Amino acid sequence: MDLARVNVATVGVFSWVSLEPEEGVYTFDWLDEVMDTLHKNGKFAVMATPSAAPPAWLSKKYPQTLRVGPDRVPMLHGNRVNYDWSSTIYREKVREMASILAERYGNHPALLMWHVSNEYGGMSYSEASRQAFIQWLKNKFGGSLDALNDAYWTRFWGHTYTEWDQIEIPGPPYGETAIQGLTLDWNRFTSDEIVSFFMNESEPLRRITPNIPITTNLMGFYGGLDAWRMAPHVDVVAWDSYPQFSQEPMSERSWAKVGMVHDLYRSLKGGKPFLLMECTPSSSNWYPYMNLKSPGMHRLEGIQAVAHGSDSVMYFQWRQCRGGQEKFHGAVVGVGQGENSRIFKDVATVGEDLEYLKGVVGGVTESDIALIYDWEVAWAIDGACGPIQKDKGYFATCLDHYLPLWKAGFSVDILNSDADLSGYKLVIAPMLYLLKLGVAERLKEFVGNGGTLVGTYMSGYVDENDLIFENGFLGPLRDLFGIVTEELDARYPSQTAEVVMGENDLEFEGIYQATTFCERIQVTSADVLGHYGNVWYMFEPAVTLNRFGNGEALYVASRNDEAFTSNLLHKLIERLQIEPATPFQLPDGVSATKRVSEDGTYLFLLNTTEHSHWIALPEEYIEALNNQPVSGSLEIGPFGVAVLKVAT
Ligand code: GAL
Repeated sequence: MDLARVNVATVGVFSWVSLEPEEGVYTFDWLDEVMDTLHKNGKFAVMATPSAAPPAWLSKKYPQTLRVGPDRVPMLHGNRVNYDWSSTIYREKVREMASILAERYGNHPALLMWHVSNEYGGMSYSEASRQAFIQWLKNKFGGSLDALNDAYWTRFWGHTYTEWDQIEIPGPPYGETAIQGLTLDWNRFTSDEIVSFFMNESEPLRRITPNIPITTNLMGFYGGLDAWRMAPHVDVVAWDSYPQFSQEPMSERSWAKVGMVHDLYRSLKGGKPFLLMECTPSSSNWYPYMNLKSPGMHRLEGIQAVAHGSDSVMYFQWRQCRGGQEKFHGAVVGVGQGENSRIFKDVATVGEDLEYLKGVVGGVTESDIALIYDWEVAWAIDGACGPIQKDKGYFATCLDHYLPLWKAGFSVDILNSDADLSGYKLVIAPMLYLLKLGVAERLKEFVGNGGTLVGTYMSGYVDENDLIFENGFLGPLRDLFGIVTEELDARYPSQTAEVVMGENDLEFEGIYQATTFCERIQVTSADVLGHYGNVWYMFEPAVTLNRFGNGEALYVASRNDEAFTSNLLHKLIERLQIEPATPFQLPDGVSATKRVSEDGTYLFLLNTTEHSHWIALPEEYIEALNNQPVSGSLEIGPFGVAVLKVAT
C-alpha cells in the first residue's frame, strides 16, 4: 500500500458473517487488527456497515427478511443485496449491527468515515413492501382513494380501486404499464424506502459518532434510486465508476459520459467535492468483454475524476480474489502478482499524482451552464407506451447536449428539475416530459430574470401524476416558449427529416438531419429560427426562440444531429459570453476542467485520444504533476493528462 501511495482503505463491506458468525456472537479481533494495522502505518479506514450481505444464519432463521422478486417468488439465500427494504426484522438487525460498530470503532484513530451498506439498489415485491407502499400512497393522497383513482385515471380499462388493499405492486406478471401513475409512484416509493432504510441504518452512527462523516456509494445514473433523494442525508456523496469499453478504443462519448456522471455527483451537494469510491484499474468481470485498459487509460480515468470534483480515487479491489463470482475482476494486486505488474504500476502512478495534487483537495468548479436530468422524468418516459416502443433515449439525449460542452471545456452542473436555477446563464432541459409541481414556474422565473433556456421535443407532456396536461402538450410551458405543440411524429430509423436554419439573430445557419422525433408546433409569440424540409410538414417551424421577460427560451422540436446541437450550443455560449475552463484553444479530443481551491487555480487537460496533441500555452504555468514550470508548447501524449497550476 505504501508503494501504491494508498492512504485509505474501505473495510468491512460484506463482512457481517465474519463479525457475527452466529446470532449474538461477535468476532471483532480480525477487524481490530485491520484497523490497528492501518493506523500504525499512517492510513485511514472508511468503515462499511455490512448490511449488503446478510449472513446465511439470518436468512435461514428469518426468511421473511429475504427479498421477493418481480415474479413474486421469495429469493433464496446466496447473493448480495437480497434483503427486503421493508422487513422490520432486517431493519432491527441492521441497526443493531451499526450501533455495535459505532460503539466499538467510533473512537478508533483510523476511522475516517462511515460507508453505509453498499450500492443500495433493486426492488422488493414482498407483502411487507406492498403494505409499506399502500401506506405511502395513503399519505400521498391524504387517505382519499378517490383522489388516487382520479390521479391514476383508473376508470380506463376499469381499474378503479374500491379498497386500499386491492392495490398490488405494479410489474410482472400482470404488467407494469397498465396504471402508469401507479408505476411512477412505485418508483418514487422505492427510492423513499431505500432512503428510509438508509436512515434507519445510519441513525446509530449519527447518534454515537456525530463527528464522523457518513457516505454511501451510489451507482452513477442507476435508475432504481433517485440520487437527489439520498444526497441531503449523506455528508459526502460517493459513486462507483466502471465505464465499459463498448468500443475499441474507448470512444470520446464514453469519456464524456463518465465526465457527466462526475458532474452530477459534484452537483448533488451543491458543488462540494465527492468521492470516487470504486473503480477498477483494469477490467470488470461483468463487462461483455474484459477489455484491458491500454497504457495511460487508467491514469486518465483517475485524474478525470479529480478534474470533475472528486477528492479521491479508490478501488474495488485491493487484492484479487481466488474464488467467487468476481475472481476475474480487476484488482490492484493480482493473484500471483506484486508490485511489478503493469496494473500495480498504473495504480502507483495515480497514487503519486494524487500526492502532487494535494492542493486541489476541497477545490470547487464554477458553472454558468446547467443541464437538467431528472429521475422522475426518466421513469415517466420509460413507463410510457409510445410514442416509440424501444428506448426513447432520454439519458442519451442529455448526453448529446453535454458532449459538445465537455469537448470544448465548458463546465456543466447536472441538476434535477427541482433545482434552484438562479445564477446560471444557460439551462438546457432536454425532453422535460414530466413537470413536477412548481417546475414550470421556476423555469419561467429563470428566463424572466434574464436566463436562457433550451427545451426540446417531448417537453411538458404530463403532470406529476403522469396525466397529459389538460391544455395539451407543453401544458404550462406554452407561454414560456411562445409555441403550441400540436402533435409528435415518431419516425422509423430510415425516415430522416431535414431541419433548415433560416436567417436569424443567432447567425445559426445550415441544413441538419433530424431522426426519431419531430414535433409539429405552431408559433404563438416565438420567432422561427429554422423549419422542416423534405417532409410533408416542410416549412413548419422546427426551431424557435421566444423572448420572455428579460430572457430567451429556445425550443428544438426534433431530435437533431450532433452538428446541430453543437452549433446551437456554441452560438448561445458566444452570445452569453460564457467562459471555458482554459483561456486557450483545446485540440479535438482534449477536454478541460478547472478547480479552484485555497491553494490556487488548477486546469486539468485530459487527452481522451490515442494520439499526442500539442497545445500552445499563452503564459507560464506550473505542471502540478511534477511541480515544474511549463510554457510555450505542451505535448500531451496518448490518453495523457496535464494539470496546470496558474502561477500566482
Ligand atoms: C461494485 C460493487 C463491488 C464490486 C464491483 C465490481 O458494484 O460495489 O463490490 O462487486 O462492483 O465491479
